[in-house]
Amino acid sequence: MTSQIIPVDPFDFIIFGGTGDLSERKLLPALYHRQRDHQFSEPTRIIGASRTKMDDKEFRAFAKKAISDHVKPEYIEEAELKTFLDRLSYVTVDAKSGDGFAELKKSVGDSKRIRVFYLAVAPSLFGDISDHLKAHKLVTADSRIVVEKPIGRDLESAKALNDIIGDDFGEHQIFRIDHYLGKETVQNLMALRFANALYEPLWNSAHIDHVQITVAETVGLEDRVTYYDKAGALRDMVQNHILQLLCLVAMEAPASMDANAVRDEKLKVLNALKRVNGNEAPKQTVRGQYRAGASAGGPVKGYIEELGADSTTETFVAIKAEIANWRWAGVPFYLRTGKRLASRVSEIVIEFKPIPHSIFGESAGPIFNNQLVIRLQPDEGVKQFIMIKDPGPGGMRLRQIPLDMSFAQSFDGRAPDAYERLIMDVVRGNQTLFMRRDEVEAAWKWIDPIQHAWEGSRQEAQGYTAGTWGPSASIALIERDGRTWHESN
Ligand code: BG6
Repeated sequence: MTSQIIPVDPFDFIIFGGTGDLSERKLLPALYHRQRDHQFSEPTRIIGASRTKMDDKEFRAFAKKAISDHVKPEYIEEAELKTFLDRLSYVTVDAKSGDGFAELKKSVGDSKRIRVFYLAVAPSLFGDISDHLKAHKLVTADSRIVVEKPIGRDLESAKALNDIIGDDFGEHQIFRIDHYLGKETVQNLMALRFANALYEPLWNSAHIDHVQITVAETVGLEDRVTYYDKAGALRDMVQNHILQLLCLVAMEAPASMDANAVRDEKLKVLNALKRVNGNEAPKQTVRGQYRAGASAGGPVKGYIEELGADSTTETFVAIKAEIANWRWAGVPFYLRTGKRLASRVSEIVIEFKPIPHSIFGESAGPIFNNQLVIRLQPDEGVKQFIMIKDPGPGGMRLRQIPLDMSFAQSFDGRAPDAYERLIMDVVRGNQTLFMRRDEVEAAWKWIDPIQHAWEGSRQEAQGYTAGTWGPSASIALIERDGRTWHESN
């Protein structure tokens, strides 16, 4: 997508977990793309830091391979790649003992450049790294720290983590990343709502029947056995990505795009979410776990076989959520996410209320509610479903069609990955697309009672065949209310 590229001030970007999976798949490729688009000013440097023993040359070779594996060949330009690799260096550090931090200090020197510490490591190391950075006087006024989810596994642990990092960095320096907020279409949701006069007057319980948010994946456990089995879909996807999407749909118009203006509005939504208590959980939530089935045309194992151990962890969640405020009272938000589902699709569906009265007879056929479908991935775009007259003679027959705005067709060029946008926002110090401490904690306040209800009542994860849309209870959850999940294929 074409956009004007504005270079940022020079910075030092230190990746803890520099040789890990996130660095390889996302961070190094994203940084390379920003280099290729000439967004860096001199002398910008990227420093890998991790426990693996490596020298600069080996780290450059690692980065070169990461880029050739994860960047499309047409975007690899030798001269840009060389300039990029020349920016890289490496320091071996031990996050637990603090070995290597003195070396890191030497490596960044006394520069007054912006410093970004990106913690692409297990959350159990966040506190140690943050403390060592402080102890070695690496934290300057222009430093920022980036932490990946999960921020804790419940409210209490999230608070403890936030306290530790908050002792070493000011809130304005802490960037809690949720990569969904960097996705083009997610930002487009704000454009759609607040750069158009059309929708906002209708965006409330007087005109909207319900909202659906689906984040469906076809992948299974991948290589994240230890993390995922302890987390489950509720903590892995709902606490962060799905609730962030819900906030962007439901929030009041912020006064500006200023970080706190946006985050204040999101926080109000989170605080207005009706708690789901022990009695309601079985009616309002569904837990599922995939069993053997088929995905991408081939057979796949069930979760337990993939894990190699017995487990009650959910790989699917559906929830009927409600927001107790004037705008949304009585409008259910149906949320669902899962692994090994029928197709990979993330979308938000806004279904409007039925027309109050039909002037057409039965022969015209059914009149469907208008739906606005915001497709986050794949095939990013927005579709507004409306009713029209079926063309041609033969009387008045009605048909539903989409007004289709596919981004791929509308814009030329490459769609940047979410990480590219978010990393540059960190360098610029723009926190609009990052979660503030109180947001993360408010999200846990809503998640914890659901988790407790499940544990207390031993609400089981119902089996579903891999390659389907989840347990039948998920269909029942919405059909009980006389509604259906949008066909997401
Ligand atoms: C991550 C989750 O945050 O998001 C993963 O931990 C999930 O389990 C991933 O697969 C999905 O991200 P995307 O961008 O591929 O939709």
